[in-house]
Amino acid sequence: MKTPQNEVLYESIDAIEEEEVKNEVIRYMEENPGLVDLLTRDLSDSVAHGIVVSKLATMVAKNLNASPEYAYRMSIAGFLHDIGKLMISDFLYGRESGTLRIEEVKYIRMHSKLGFEILKKNNYDDIITESVLHHHENYDGSGYPDNLKGLNIPFGARILRVCDVFSALISDRPYRGAYSCEEAMQLLISEVKNFDMRCFLALQRAVNSPDFAYVRDLVNEQNKNFLRTKRLRSELNLDLW
Ligand SMILES: [Fe+2]
Ligand SMILES: [Fe+2]
Repeated sequence: MKTPQNEVLYESIDAIEEEEVKNEVIRYMEENPGLVDLLTRDLSDSVAHGIVVSKLATMVAKNLNASPEYAYRMSIAGFLHDIGKLMISDFLYGRESGTLRIEEVKYIRMHSKLGFEILKKNNYDDIITESVLHHHENYDGSGYPDNLKGLNIPFGARILRVCDVFSALISDRPYRGAYSCEEAMQLLISEVKNFDMRCFLALQRAVNSPDFAYVRDLVNEQNKNFLRTKRLRSELNLDLW
């Protein structure tokens, strides 16, 4: 049932274009009210991830002397970068298992393109849409959707890439606990071929700046929520879904 708490969730489902998929999701949710609660929490996890990437991307842009307008666009792109994932994959697939099936990977990989299309349709500007479209491109050309390499990757997408990975590493995941900021930095260094070195160094400076305290608090709060959600998920036995 629709309540003020899960309104955003219902609105997101409403935006699923394929009628059949939408009806199936709604039917399943009405039959499983506990699931609505879980998805509402999942949604707030996704929102928290968006806020963290938004904040980091803004800090990195400023650190690289980007204009205030550009930094502002990064705050929007950071917040919305995974919007495609939120609207499709999270509802269709449980994420309890550590290893993703091949078809799940294929769907999840569609999220950057889906996000791009959603934002394009809503008249977001090119800096934002291109950054979202390419936020999974790796600097060495091994990313997706277009295997772009080096400076061919839009600047905003290079900023988002490193902030996104860092944000994921410092957050709890179903298959592993959160890494500390220091460990996360070490892991980024070991994967540095994926990142623009300037963006990576700017992120390192941002993480060591006083402004990072806000992000740290937010992530700690998010990780606490995650434990509660995990318990709820196992009570619902979502593995069967
Ligand atoms: Fe993503
Ligand atoms: Fe992300």
